[in-house]
Amino acid sequence: MPNKPFAAIILAAGQGTRMKSRKHKVLHEIAGKPMLGYLLDTVSTLGAAKTLLVVGAAKEQLHAAYPDYEFVTQTEQHGTGHAARTALSALEGFTGDLMVLFGDTPFIAPQTMQAMIAALGQKSAGLVVLGFSPKDPAKYGRLVTDKGGALDRIVEYKDASADELAIGLCNSGVMLIEGEQASHWLGALENNNAAGEYYLTDLVALARQSGFTVPVIVAEEEEVMGINSREDLAAAEAAQQQKWRKAAMDAGVTMTDPSSVYFSADTEIAADVTIEPNVFFGAGVRVESGAVIKAFSHIEGTHIRADATVGPFARLRPGADIGEGAKVGNFVEIKKSTLDKGAKVSHLSYIGDATVGEAANVGAGTITCNYDGFLKYETKIGAGAFIGSNSALVAPVSVGDGAIVAAGSVVTKDVEADALAVARGKQREIKGHAAKFKAEKAATKASNKS
Ligand code: UD1
Ligand code: CA
Repeated sequence: MPNKPFAAIILAAGQGTRMKSRKHKVLHEIAGKPMLGYLLDTVSTLGAAKTLLVVGAAKEQLHAAYPDYEFVTQTEQHGTGHAARTALSALEGFTGDLMVLFGDTPFIAPQTMQAMIAALGQKSAGLVVLGFSPKDPAKYGRLVTDKGGALDRIVEYKDASADELAIGLCNSGVMLIEGEQASHWLGALENNNAAGEYYLTDLVALARQSGFTVPVIVAEEEEVMGINSREDLAAAEAAQQQKWRKAAMDAGVTMTDPSSVYFSADTEIAADVTIEPNVFFGAGVRVESGAVIKAFSHIEGTHIRADATVGPFARLRPGADIGEGAKVGNFVEIKKSTLDKGAKVSHLSYIGDATVGEAANVGAGTITCNYDGFLKYETKIGAGAFIGSNSALVAPVSVGDGAIVAAGSVVTKDVEADALAVARGKQREIKGHAAKFKAEKAATKASNKS
């Protein structure tokens, strides 16, 4: 039987005080992407018919970050059950099931949610709970089973007896509620408990009382790890990086020291790329096959094409497009610039707002002067051009195909194709002057001492 459509309700109205931040907890980033983004992507992959975000404090930040989503405001936070009940106001006329998720528990795998959906498909099931067995059950709610081993109820840490606290199977917080029963059950929740809150977890007992079963799907701890503090955030980051490193190697990427390479959520690396130690990939990087990224390179918003070489110590900033077989050497910064096939910028250069033609060679210490303090301007370097070391190309300016710029030039005017441009002081020589100067100074120094 095909499953009914479902709505994802993401609870994010809590204060998140342990993060000690002006920024909303769920907007803190893991591998360059807000933690909430992972959850939103997963529910979208699963084809949620509707996605609702339940928000409270700092909700403006969430509206700004995710303008295309639907929000429900929970003005006062009276617990997870109250938050889910608040969401019902935006679900009038919706008859599908409700997947309740926590914004700070972002790494639930699509397969896990799929397993919950399948479990709710069982005839007698009215609710599905996602459980896990943490190494330290700490303050999690405990899953209490009946004699037959079926889930009977969930008891919150604050309300649990010593026997109940000994239970190892805990509540992750995630639940899938049968759509036809949801509003009835959520409406029936009460707050007569240790916290004085409306507990979402009380739905289990309500479902059982109405004659439904409550299947439990068990997840790995890593998957349902909640992120409440900076320490949790760092642990989540480490776990994700570990995953991406393994995925990259599984996909044919060579990494000399994987533990020192950092990826972003959207990094794309093809097979047969080699990555040396201490490389950082910020958002928006794509690397094609055969490229080599040498040690200590920092790369964001960049496309590195096949067989290119980058680094060591290269800084590639957004809008860099490094052509096939091109070379970016040490202490080179490239921003919003294209290097065509085989072009080389090998040492100590800044290339910004520029195009560098095929097989052009940009000498050591070349700077594109792209900014006058107010506006940015473009530099064009033609195919096969040669820019001598320590040249300043004052944009807007172009150097034609095959042209040569003499070392140390300050180029302020366009250079024609195949021309030689020399734009520097002329060398002159005064015979014997150095020797004369040295003799005079030595004599002065000697007479000052006596
Ligand atoms: C909840 C579960 C507990 C489970 C634990 C897993 C309940 C009653 N308890 O406890 O069984 O082991 O998660 O981490 O559900 N929120 C709102 N509005 C509110 C209250 C909370 O939106 O009024 C949101 C929070 O922002 C957060 C999520 O709900 O994203 C969970 O709230 P939290 O207070 O952390 O629940 P726990 O007490 O940890
Ligand atoms: Ca929590």
